[in-house]
This record gives sequence, C-alpha cells and structure tokens, in this order.
Amino acid sequence: MKTFINKSWQFTNTFDKQLLASKKTDIKIKLQTVDLPHSVVQTPYNYFDAKIYQTVSGYRKTFKTAAAWKNRRVFITFEGAAHEATVYLNGQLLGTHSTGYTAFTYEMTKFLAPQGSENVLVVKLDSNETIDVPPFGFVIDYMTYGGIYLEVFIEDKPQIFIDDIYVTTKENSCDVKFALSEQVSEGTQFNVTVAPWSKTKGKPITVSVTANRSTANLHAEITMPDVKMWTPETPDLYTATVELVSKNKGESDSKSERFGFRDIVMNAEGLFLNGKKYKLRGLDRHQSYAYQGYAMPESLQRFDAKVLKEELGLNAVRTSHYPQSHHFIDACDELGLLVFTEIPGWQHIGSSAKWRKQAIQNVNEMVLQYRNHPSIFLWGVRINESPDDDELYSVTNSVARELDPSRPTGGVRCFKKSNLLEDVYTYNEFVHRGDNEGCEPKSKVTSNMKKAYLISEYNGHMYPTKMFDDEIHRTNHALRHAKVINDVAGHSDIAGSFGWCAFDYNTHEDFGSGDGICYHGVMDMFRNPKMAALVYKSQAEDEVVLDVSSSMDVGEHPACTRGKNWIFTNADSIKMYFNDIFITEYFPSNSPYKNLKHPPILIDDYVGERFVKEEKMSQKSSEQAKAVINFNAIYGQIKMPFSILLKAAALFLKGFGYAKLRKLYDNYVGNWGGAASVYKFEAIKDGKVVKTILKGPVKNIQIKADISNKELSVENGWDASSVRLSVKDQYGNTVPYYMESVRFSVSGPIELIGPETSCFRGGYAGTYVRTTGKTGKAQLKVESADLSCNINFSVL
Ligand code: GAL
Repeated sequence: MKTFINKSWQFTNTFDKQLLASKKTDIKIKLQTVDLPHSVVQTPYNYFDAKIYQTVSGYRKTFKTAAAWKNRRVFITFEGAAHEATVYLNGQLLGTHSTGYTAFTYEMTKFLAPQGSENVLVVKLDSNETIDVPPFGFVIDYMTYGGIYLEVFIEDKPQIFIDDIYVTTKENSCDVKFALSEQVSEGTQFNVTVAPWSKTKGKPITVSVTANRSTANLHAEITMPDVKMWTPETPDLYTATVELVSKNKGESDSKSERFGFRDIVMNAEGLFLNGKKYKLRGLDRHQSYAYQGYAMPESLQRFDAKVLKEELGLNAVRTSHYPQSHHFIDACDELGLLVFTEIPGWQHIGSSAKWRKQAIQNVNEMVLQYRNHPSIFLWGVRINESPDDDELYSVTNSVARELDPSRPTGGVRCFKKSNLLEDVYTYNEFVHRGDNEGCEPKSKVTSNMKKAYLISEYNGHMYPTKMFDDEIHRTNHALRHAKVINDVAGHSDIAGSFGWCAFDYNTHEDFGSGDGICYHGVMDMFRNPKMAALVYKSQAEDEVVLDVSSSMDVGEHPACTRGKNWIFTNADSIKMYFNDIFITEYFPSNSPYKNLKHPPILIDDYVGERFVKEEKMSQKSSEQAKAVINFNAIYGQIKMPFSILLKAAALFLKGFGYAKLRKLYDNYVGNWGGAASVYKFEAIKDGKVVKTILKGPVKNIQIKADISNKELSVENGWDASSVRLSVKDQYGNTVPYYMESVRFSVSGPIELIGPETSCFRGGYAGTYVRTTGKTGKAQLKVESADLSCNINFSVL
C-alpha cells in the first residue's frame, strides 16, 4: 500500500546533527512544522538574491511502524528534493540522491523500529548551487530553489514484488514487460491485464504468464481489439496490471502502470504519430511559481497543463530544462499534450567524473521513471545548449535507447552543424529579430538532412515583454510569435517549434530585467495572458477566439495615428463596425502570415463605404480618399508611396486639398470630439455571428477573478488554488494600465502564499491561496482602490 507522508514535517533551514536524535526533547534548535511540497524559503515576487534559498537545510519526520508491515518490505520514495538529499532512518544512512529533478526510493525495512514504535526520518538537504552535479557549475538562467518540493510516500511490499512495468505498443497490440525484485521459482504465475482507463471504453483482457528458469525477460504481448489510439485529439489511456499469483497468502503482489497505444516516428519529414503527421506547436515550461518556487501541489501542476492545452491551444510542451512533476505529465497524458522532456542542465558540462557520471545517471532515472507516459515523444539527452561532447553524449544516447527503444533522442543545441549523435536535431532558433525571417531552412542548421529537425526555442530574450509594456511593444511581441510559427509552418521538414517560453520566471542576476525576472513568457508568472497568448489560442479550434491588439485609442500611438492594429481570431471572417456603421469584413486571406490557418489580420480600413454614404462621394473618389486616409491612419504623416501619392494627386485635381483630407481624417479616423467612438468586431463562423467584442471609451471597471480550484483537498498534504485577477471595462476588455495596489485577506481554513499587499501589473494581478490543514468553508477578499470581490472556497 502507498501512504503519503506529506504532513507535519519538522524543518530547519540550517541542518544540525541534533535532528538525528531519537527523542524530540533532545533537539534544542528551533524547528518549524511544515507540510510537503515545501520550499526552503518563500521568495519575493522580484528583486531577491538567489542566495536566499541556498542552504543546507534539515527535515525530520516521525512515523510509527505499522502492524500491516509485518513480514513486508517497506520503501520510501521522494518525488523531488532539490538538490542533494542525504536520508537517514533512525540514525542509519539510507543513501544520498543528487540532482533534484528525479524521484528516488530507499528500502527502510531493516532499519525500521519495532512494530508500533516511532521511526525518525531525517533529510539533510543541500540546495547550494555550488554542488558538483548538473545543472550547477556555471551560470543558469532560472532559479533552482530548494526543498522537498514534491510529495513523499511510503510503500509496503511483499518479499518478492513487481518492481517495474514497461509497456510499448505497436498498432493495437502492446508488450507489457515486467521486472521482479527477486528471482522467482520456475512455474510462478502472473496475470497481466490491460484495461481501459477511466473514460476510455472497451473490455479488459487478461493473459497468464509463467516464469521459466530465467525471470529476465518476463512479458506479455496483448492485442486489444477496438483499441483507441492515444492522439493529441483523443488521449485515450489504458492501464497494464501485473499480478503475481502466489499460493502463499500475503505473498501476492500487483502493480499497475498507465499507458497509451501510440507509435512515434521522427524522420527527415517530421513527426508521425500513429502514421499521421503532426506539426508541433509548443512552448517551453519552467515549473516555477511566484513566491513558492517549485513546491506546488498536484492541482496546480495539473492546472499548468490545462492552461497550455486549453488556454493556449498548444499541442506540445518542452519541460525545460529538467524532468518535471509526474502530476504535470499525467495531465499532459490525459489532455493530449505532447511532451519533450530532458535531463537537467544549462549550457555547462562539468569536468569532474562525479558531474559527468551524474548526467548519465540522470538520463537513466528520467527514462525509467517517465517511459510509460504516452505524452512523452522525445528524450533530451544533452545538457541544454552545451557544446559537443561525443564521449558523454554517445553514452547518454545509448542509455536512453537501451532503456526505451520506442522513442527518439534529441538534445538541445544553440549552434548549427553540431555532431548529431541523436535521432533529432533540436535547435534553439533565435534568428528572428522582428523584421526578418522567422526561421532558417533545415539545411542551414542540421548536420544530417536524413534525420528529423525541430526548433526547441525561439523569441525569449530576443524581445522581453512585460504586462505593462505599451500597446506597440505588446503587439510586436505577439507578432514575433506569429511570424516564427508562420514560417515554421512553411517548412514541411521542420517537425515543429517550441517558443521561449510559456510563463515569465524568476532568474539569476546575470539574466532578466534586473529585477530577477525573465519577462520571456507568453503569460506572466501567475499564468495571466499577454497579448501573444492570443496568437497561440487562435490557432486552436475548440473555442471561438476574437480579440484585437489595440484598445482603439489613438492617444496610445505616436502622433495619434492608429498604427498597425491586428485581429486575432480563428473565425472564418470578422466584420468591423464603427458606432454600429459597418466598415468592412476581414478574411484570413488578407493576412501576410500565409502559412497559418488562423493568422493575425491587419486592420487596414477605418472608412468602408462611409465617404460614399455620408460624404456623397463617387465610388472612385471614395476609393482614392480611403487609400490616402487609411495610409495616414496606419503610418502617420510620412512620405506616401507613389501609388498613394497618385491618388492624393487625383483628389487634389478634384478639389480635395490638404485641409479637406485632414478634416476627413479627423472625422473618420481620429474621432476627436466625437460623442462616442465604439468599434465593434463580429466573428463569423459558418455564416453566423459567434462572438462579438466592443472597444470604446472605458466607463466603468471591475475585477474579474479566475480561480483554478474552488474545492481544495487536504487528503494527501496541502492543496492550493491560483487566483488570477484582471480588471475589465464595461465590455469585458482588460484595462492594460490599471496598476493599483491590491490587498488580500482570508478567512476560514486557507492562507495566502505571498504577500497580503501586491499590485496590478498591466491590468493583471495574481496570488495563491493554500490550505492550512483544516477543512470547512473559506473566503478570499480582494480589495483594490474602489474595487473588490470575494471568492469562496471549500476545503474538503
Ligand atoms: C536560451 C536558453 C533558455 C533561456 C532562453 C532565453 O538560450 O536555453 O533557458 O535562457 O535562452 O531566451
């Protein structure tokens, strides 16, 4: 049985040997009671020194030896402890685990106290960035935090137990391989059952396997009729259960693993899943959160996957630059989000034997721990952006291939024509500068055209963007993302791309904007969307997307021009109205981004037929005047191109001088002094209006709260909810320059993660609430200037 022991650990941020004492009364240092997942320190939002989480801390947990463990073997598993954990049970060393991004298990059996007596479990945890293991040894563009930041559980097992299950699939059949903790006698029987998981329909199938003289190659091949393949659109899942059938009571064992039927091929043409070609549209994810670092519970790990899939419409994510919480990957499996996961590291390969051995060990742990996740399609077996090192990387490749022949290997580079020991050339493509190509052709980058090529990063530091940047900057950021995915879509031999990155993140002083934040996300640290999020969201079909890049306020742009404003939509067309007067209808074919099905569309007409109808101009004169006025609306009073000049000259000859044109501009584009100027946009799909948005002067504002999780559970530890706040105008548009302070107060069994006072940044704010251990009704009160809202939670 698996028992989580996440609650009531004693913590000190400076390890002391006294922790090993069997009696608590012998410990004279001050201890704090904490629940897991735990961060050694809560960090400020920005402007903090990475030294604050670098410490050798101590954790102590007591638990009784259960009666049920009699004659059983008992193990403890840490899902994640950053970064070097030395674990003791009752004063005896269980082991040391280095590199904080993979799980580790120790057997406790022989050190356990007698039944009913108390055991003392102590962890000495080194979170110093000077440890000689990956990712340390040089600078790193992300915070590495510290703490037992994922869950811990105890599992009791029989003397001989099923240690591992590994499932591979081919069309509708699967091969369930399993390994035992010990040699079993010849003739031992196993039942292997493959059954649909949860929502997947179908009947379970069981086959019997008999061990012969060697237990090295135990497996069952099972064919499932009517199998539902795992795809990003239909993420059907199955479970494989292996049962050891023993005549001796209490000696039987059973273990299950979840998997999906799917086949991955990555070749010169791209990525094929079950024979169908997919273009990867993904972003890179750091698993860090404001204030809390890595230590977030299951619900929020899962929530990130939902945000990526459902709010950003992605089909892929890269877990840069380390393996991430199984809860996150489980959600990717369930939602159909393809995952490229990789070993920990950043640019630097350590020179010591210890460091290099650990890098290989990390491949081993990553593949063994994650290989049944159907969402994972590629192993990253190189240190992100490190130089070629054939000696090291030929080993990491062979370890991954041996432990999992079903998936290709890759490894992220920041330079071209590197030695390609992997199956896929994975490359950080930072060529795009805003006014040039979005990516280079594959032939310019890879050293082997016969193998697959994918882009593992783009944008990021090329154009950091804050929620509170001005409209032009935020628009340019969005368009850079559009340009790269458009150009990638134009190269059929690029398997796809991952943009840098999904969420802003805290980083070291060598990086970021000086405040310890890399503003590289398509969302902020709270997962509030920047404008660029619309580029991604509009590529998906599940929900109608319609928004424009501008608040339609001329005063936001230089010289009061309207500038280049863009529509982000996945509709068939968009009708634009000014004060309910129809102006024009825009189609995706109008867009310069020709390779995207749902490209951003430039708003290039503010006049429509108004000159004909309201100024009684002839069609011809109207077309000429429109060209001149719209040119000025977008570019301002700059030198007109010859084609527009000709039209201006024709108008001049008809008596339309500068003053008259200027008046037309002021009346129809500038709208100065106009009683009301409201732009309406209608999204049309299959001939029907499916969404309408309005942009006009702000009359009143209110707070909108977006809550990830209103029902919190304290069953296995603590739970949390993200609270995303935005201030909306009367039409539901976020008001981008609302920057007031915000105060949070809680009642009932919840508390805040982070400060009680914060502020809105660019119309958005955020916080987290967490459980305190008690159950009941709880409330968060949010107050900002004259605005407020209350959010109710129930803790179960
Ligand atoms: C890459 C690196 C990422 C991040 C990014 C910023 O070189 O792999 O971790 O630093 O640059 O754009």
